[in-house]
Amino acid sequence: MRKTILLIFLALFEVISAQQNVDKPNIVIIMADDMGFDDVSFRGSNQFLTPNIDALAYSGVILKNLYTPPMCTPSRSALLTGKYPINTGMQHYVIPNDQPWSLPVNETTMAQIFQQNGYYTSIIGKWHLGFSRKGYTPTLRGFDYHFGYLGAYIDYFDHTLYNPNKNFSRGHDFRENLDVSRKYTGTYITDLLTAKAVKIIDDHNINEKPLFLLLNHLAPHAANDDKPLQAPPDEIEKFSYIKDPERRTYAAMMSKLDTSVAHIIEALSKKSILNNTIILFYSDNGGPTVGMHATTASNYPLRGQKNSPWEGALRSSAAIWSPKFEKLGTVWKQRIYVADLLPTLAAAAGIYINESIKLDGVNLWSALKYGYEAVEREIVHNIDDIDNYVSYFKGKWKFINGTTEEGIYDSWLGTRSNHDDEIDNRSKDYENLIRNTTVWHNLYEFNTNNGKASNITELRLDAEVKCQNTSAIEVITCNPLISPCLFDIDEDPCEQNNLYEQFKNSKIVLELLERISYFREHAHEPNNKPADPLCDPKYYEYEWTWWQDVQEGNSAVRSTSISYIIFIILLLNFFSIKFLI
Ligand SMILES: *[C@@H]1O[C@H](CO)[C@@H](O)[C@H](O)[C@H]1NC(C)=O
Ligand SMILES: *[C@@H]1O[C@H](CO)[C@@H](O)[C@H](O)[C@H]1NC(C)=O
Ligand SMILES: *[C@@H]1O[C@H](CO)[C@@H](O)[C@H](O)[C@H]1NC(C)=O
Ligand SMILES: *[C@@H]1O[C@H](CO)[C@@H](O)[C@H](O)[C@H]1NC(C)=O
Ligand SMILES: *[C@@H]1O[C@H](CO)[C@@H](O)[C@H](O)[C@H]1NC(C)=O
Ligand SMILES: *[C@@H]1O[C@H](CO)[C@@H](O)[C@H](O)[C@H]1NC(C)=O
Ligand SMILES: *[C@@H]1O[C@H](CO)[C@@H](O)[C@H](O)[C@H]1NC(C)=O
Ligand SMILES: *[C@@H]1O[C@H](CO)[C@@H](O)[C@H](O)[C@H]1NC(C)=O
Ligand SMILES: *[C@@H]1O[C@H](CO)[C@@H](O)[C@H](O)[C@H]1NC(C)=O
Repeated sequence: MRKTILLIFLALFEVISAQQNVDKPNIVIIMADDMGFDDVSFRGSNQFLTPNIDALAYSGVILKNLYTPPMCTPSRSALLTGKYPINTGMQHYVIPNDQPWSLPVNETTMAQIFQQNGYYTSIIGKWHLGFSRKGYTPTLRGFDYHFGYLGAYIDYFDHTLYNPNKNFSRGHDFRENLDVSRKYTGTYITDLLTAKAVKIIDDHNINEKPLFLLLNHLAPHAANDDKPLQAPPDEIEKFSYIKDPERRTYAAMMSKLDTSVAHIIEALSKKSILNNTIILFYSDNGGPTVGMHATTASNYPLRGQKNSPWEGALRSSAAIWSPKFEKLGTVWKQRIYVADLLPTLAAAAGIYINESIKLDGVNLWSALKYGYEAVEREIVHNIDDIDNYVSYFKGKWKFINGTTEEGIYDSWLGTRSNHDDEIDNRSKDYENLIRNTTVWHNLYEFNTNNGKASNITELRLDAEVKCQNTSAIEVITCNPLISPCLFDIDEDPCEQNNLYEQFKNSKIVLELLERISYFREHAHEPNNKPADPLCDPKYYEYEWTWWQDVQEGNSAVRSTSISYIIFIILLLNFFSIKFLI
């Protein structure tokens, strides 16, 4: 009898919590990989247009100052943990496919938090937070579903990773959950991931659980060195006016990414859930213009590029949309760090985060919702004692000491084509192009804006970064390999004028150095490990897999039987509840 009452109580509780879930917003994050700051057209470039991403930006809130770590693995770790990479050991470089380490398994991920709070959590596309053990992979780190690849990048068509400078052989890397999936080989990955994300949205039972969808595109990251830039020929043809064939292909890769955004928003609209969804678009870090995995990406007018201490590595082109925002159709200038997204989105969903998790991110939900910009943000971009550099920011002051790659990424590398014959001819009628997108039609209806129509031209001008006019001042250059640099980012977003000598004995700098020492003392040792030759896909049917588990004998079998037992327990529970009611 007592048990019956308990079960009825539990069943009622489920109904009530399902009811509560109805109000929790769906969360859709679309992440670009290595996208240049100037490679979306809402920042002002007309070389090739991204009308759908732009329409999302203008109908939502443009994040003028979203900061990320300078590379893939650290950036993804900061998003998923809400912590600085220095506090999880993820601060140095990335996880190459042949190294046996991961985001530490004792870190709680955003996916776990949302899953525990009633969300269906899915990740489509790239992981890149470790896979040498099965326990490191997404479906064992809080995601209910994964469709994509585990490593750093893959070929856009055959989904293999190959590196001629390494000793391992070419290996396929594409899975659905834990199972290898080769049936999609040959499908252009941006389309493949988009179609899957659309299907997740279409098939989702919104009355059961709110949706958390992280769509981690490969685009526009380089594929393997044998063919780094890849797009379908008909897409490349659309950009035939761009003379540099690499830039032309890159434009086509961006165009495919742009189309993906339209399809996702269309699916949300068809499902009638836009009224309760938050959509975020951003890039994990800046684009690589030169050097490793260079793609012609442009971070114009910012200094530096991916894997450097400069704004070109750290400042992402981003926009967020939610019908709950009071100031849709604005440019938000509040500085925000990617680790702020976990507490911010959790707050949007009314999720309590246990203080024992010790987040570095700050909850900016109410600032974002009401559109105020007054929070002074401190951001430890990185303290990397292996590469020997520091990049740190507080208020408007940015401090850099040391740099990466002997300084080869330290100048202004990105350009903006201003040849009349290299301009997207749709830019002549830019406003109408934007207003004619399905994205605009779907989103703008939520934008009441006190009855005022949005001025797209004005928003676009406001989103653009304007460098300090240095002709009127005496500029002091900065070489962080020789001595530290200090910039006033409000005045000088392009990091042209080094103020360190002028301010080095000031309270500002002394306090800032104290903060850096504090963070250095409390930092987690880097998790990096040397390459393990046993990773080689040739031992595993030319597949990238959790080789450490395979080498140690089949841990796979054990975990499968545990899942069966759990499944049976859940099934029994389910029937007893239904039966009693
Ligand atoms: C995880 O374990 C490492 C090493 O044992 C420890 O330094 C770190 O503080 C732990 N992290 C958490 C979140 O418990
Ligand atoms: C590849 O293997 C050879 C022979 O074992 C070794 O000498 C070389 O250092 C290895 N190269 C790399 C990049 O690991
Ligand atoms: C615009 O450019 C595209 C692609 O280069 C071309 O196919 C099209 O004819 C052009 N349209 C106009 C009106 O010039
Ligand atoms: C969103 O719209 C759908 C369909 O019109 C409606 O059933 C639902 O209650 C709305 N949700 C919210 C949170 O307004
Ligand atoms: C927070 O986490 C700690 C340690 O895991 C646990 O002891 C405590 O009960 C949790 N607090 C709440 C309110 O859930
Ligand atoms: C800058 O870095 C160098 C080399 O690591 C170090 O010796 C120096 O103390 C640093 N300067 C400051 C002001 O932190
Ligand atoms: C608007 O889009 C539709 C279909 O997407 C197209 O047929 C039409 O020509 C476009 N109109 C303008 C003014 O661009
Ligand atoms: C939009 O803003 C631009 C730039 O400030 C201005 O030139 C233009 O007149 C505005 N358009 C409308 C319709 O207000
Ligand atoms: C920059 O400053 C110089 C010197 O004061 C001035 O002549 C020039 O017009 C300014 N340029 C811009 C783009 O404002």
